[in-house]
Amino acid sequence: MSANRIISYAFALLICAMGIGFGSSAFAAAAPAAGDGLYSEKGTATCVQCHNEAPATDILKTPHAMKGDAHAPGGQKGCESCHGPSNSHAAGFAAGKPALPAVVFNGPNASPIEVRNGACLTCHQDAKRMNWHDSQHKNANLACVSCHTLHAAKDPVMVRTTQAAKCFTCHAQQRAESFQFSHHPMREGKVICADCHNPHGSAGPKLLKEFTVNQTCYTCHADKRGPMLWEHQPVRENCLNCHTPHGSNEARLMKERMNFMCSTCHSATGNNSGGAFGGAHALVGNLQGSATFSSALANNRTCLNCHSQVHGSNNPGGTFFFR
Ligand code: HEC
Ligand code: HEC
Ligand code: HEC
Ligand code: HEC
Ligand code: HEC
Ligand code: HEC
Ligand code: HEC
Ligand code: HEC
Ligand code: HEC
Ligand code: HEC
Repeated sequence: MSANRIISYAFALLICAMGIGFGSSAFAAAAPAAGDGLYSEKGTATCVQCHNEAPATDILKTPHAMKGDAHAPGGQKGCESCHGPSNSHAAGFAAGKPALPAVVFNGPNASPIEVRNGACLTCHQDAKRMNWHDSQHKNANLACVSCHTLHAAKDPVMVRTTQAAKCFTCHAQQRAESFQFSHHPMREGKVICADCHNPHGSAGPKLLKEFTVNQTCYTCHADKRGPMLWEHQPVRENCLNCHTPHGSNEARLMKERMNFMCSTCHSATGNNSGGAFGGAHALVGNLQGSATFSSALANNRTCLNCHSQVHGSNNPGGTFFFR
């Protein structure tokens, strides 16, 4: 405890001994037992007598402290809107019976997880947290405070440039992916985790904000939405047939090197046509083996040299995605 704290603590004891000050006379005579459900008489003013420095006081700089907002703790029970009725804690010290606040969020004395989360959900049980109760994060026993920091002028997980770092503390694989050659600029804060995921729960897979992968991608890549005159089936089906969402060592977030990626579905023995090594390529104008074809395949754009509109085409002549 800092010198300041000790002084204010001592001060609290002193005013208590004199039978004056907050909480009136009652708490000096008979200190209420822990968890007696009573709020301290002067709310925040009582608490900040002892908790008079950062980080405790940082909350006073946030929307939570707004006195004018009837929905905010500041407009209700102050500190105790979150920490619960804690008169026994505030007064207990003075009476020589230290007690914990009703709700402790972190550290060795942390309250049970339902109690902690319940304190937040009394106010934040809304549309965005509709699926919290069967979310992967709830099931993994995360607390709201596993991600949120309330005693900070600005909660880092709410800031675009610092959000990913918070998620990376648990999701090391996605962190590694964010350093790969091609990646959504997540560390850079341009495309953030919460652009694609709702960490509070989702009706779709993998905590995605939308019902499907493709709908999630379309929110930014609207040009890929279609419908196209000539659809490429795997594109409509799932963008992740060819791409990875976070990062890849292949260009354009590709799952595999170009040529091989197309060949996973289009091969001489595969069922979706002959690909580059048979089928039409062998038949039409004896394409395969021609100088044009070989050099086109050797080029790093490989199949894309000819089939450039791989997401589908709106050109009347775009059957084979040439244009
Ligand atoms: C008389 C001084 C005093 C008053 C008044 C006071 N506290 Fe405390 N509080 C302490 C001390 C001392 C500790 C334990 C040392 C520490 O964590 O700094 C503490 C600890 C806490 C903790 C952390 C508990 C833990 O175990 O991690 C919380 C949360 C807390 N107080 C909230 C409050 C709230 C809310 C109020 C107002 C209702 C309040 N305090 C009023 C002195 C006080
Ligand atoms: C909106 C809910 C909320 C309000 C209001 C609130 N707290 Fe907290 N408090 C928390 C959470 C959550 C934590 C855990 C650490 C964090 O998120 O910063 C915490 C942690 C603490 C701690 C322990 C320090 C630590 O990091 O372990 C103290 C002491 C404390 N609060 C005191 C207060 C006091 C005093 C007030 C009023 C001025 C207050 N709190 C208002 C939610 C709240
Ligand atoms: C008494 C009601 C109440 C309680 C309890 C409460 N909040 Fe809030 N919270 C609010 C209000 C009101 C706002 C401001 C909303 C706004 O401005 O749109 C807010 C804002 C927020 C924000 C957005 C802050 C920002 O920087 O924009 C976060 C995150 C948040 N609360 C998380 C929590 C968590 C986590 C807890 C539990 C530790 C909690 N709240 C407890 C009422 C509450
Ligand atoms: C896995 C991390 C994580 C957990 C756990 C988490 N949050 Fe959040 N929360 C976030 C992120 C990230 C944002 C920012 C969302 C955005 O930018 O759209 C956010 C935003 C918010 C906001 C403000 C914007 C909004 O969605 O209304 C509130 C309020 C909030 N969270 C409350 C809670 C509560 C209550 C809990 C516990 C039941 C909780 N959060 C648990 C990560 C988390
Ligand atoms: C305290 C650790 C922790 C933090 C912080 C955290 N997560 Fe998680 N997350 C988990 C755990 C544990 C799971 C469930 C187990 C798993 O699938 O890895 C999970 C699951 C997920 C899933 C679903 C995985 C699936 O298989 O369905 C997504 C998506 C996710 N987290 C995104 C995020 C985002 C985005 C953030 C930051 C806003 C975040 N997480 C912060 C621990 C965390
Ligand atoms: C551009 C959209 C997008 C962004 C941004 C994004 N994700 Fe994802 N994430 C996805 C998609 C889509 C999946 C589903 C992958 C699948 O089904 O194989 C996913 C899956 C996950 C999973 C589950 C992985 C698994 O193998 O099951 C975790 C964990 C995750 N993301 C965490 C994060 C974190 C942390 C961030 C921010 C650093 C983040 N994501 C940013 C789209 C995104
Ligand atoms: C929040 C907006 C947003 C969402 C949602 C989004 N993206 Fe992106 N995407 C971007 C931005 C911005 C870039 C450009 C990055 C750059 O210029 O470095 C990009 C780039 C790409 C690239 C090219 C990468 C490169 O290295 O050139 C691919 C491929 C891509 N996104 C696929 C997807 C897929 C698949 C999804 C769905 C899982 C998706 N995106 C969802 C914003 C988004
Ligand atoms: C059949 C494989 C395949 C599927 C499925 C696919 N893509 Fe692509 N995508 C590619 C290839 C190949 C490139 C590289 C094109 C180039 O370099 O000209 C690419 C490039 C991109 C780019 C960056 C260049 C550009 O055209 O803007 C974005 C963004 C993109 N894809 C988004 C998506 C989205 C969103 C989906 C799902 C709707 C999707 N892709 C589905 C193969 C695919
Ligand atoms: C996930 C499997 C898959 C991948 C990967 C894939 N395709 Fe396809 N492709 C298909 C299917 C399915 C069809 C429709 C086949 C049919 O109608 O017979 C198709 C059709 C085509 C057609 C012919 C269109 C037509 O009308 O006959 C071309 C050209 C094509 N793909 C090129 C590519 C290229 C180039 C790549 C690599 C960038 C690629 N495909 C990757 C599954 C895939
Ligand atoms: C030099 C240009 C060129 C390159 C490079 C090329 N193709 Fe083709 N592709 C064609 C032509 C021409 C057709 C036949 C169009 C027609 O029948 O009119 C064709 C047809 C196709 C078809 C559909 C016809 C069928 O066989 O059923 C698929 C699938 C296809 N190519 C896949 C690929 C893949 C995968 C690659 C890369 C490994 C590739 N192509 C590289 C020119 C090319």
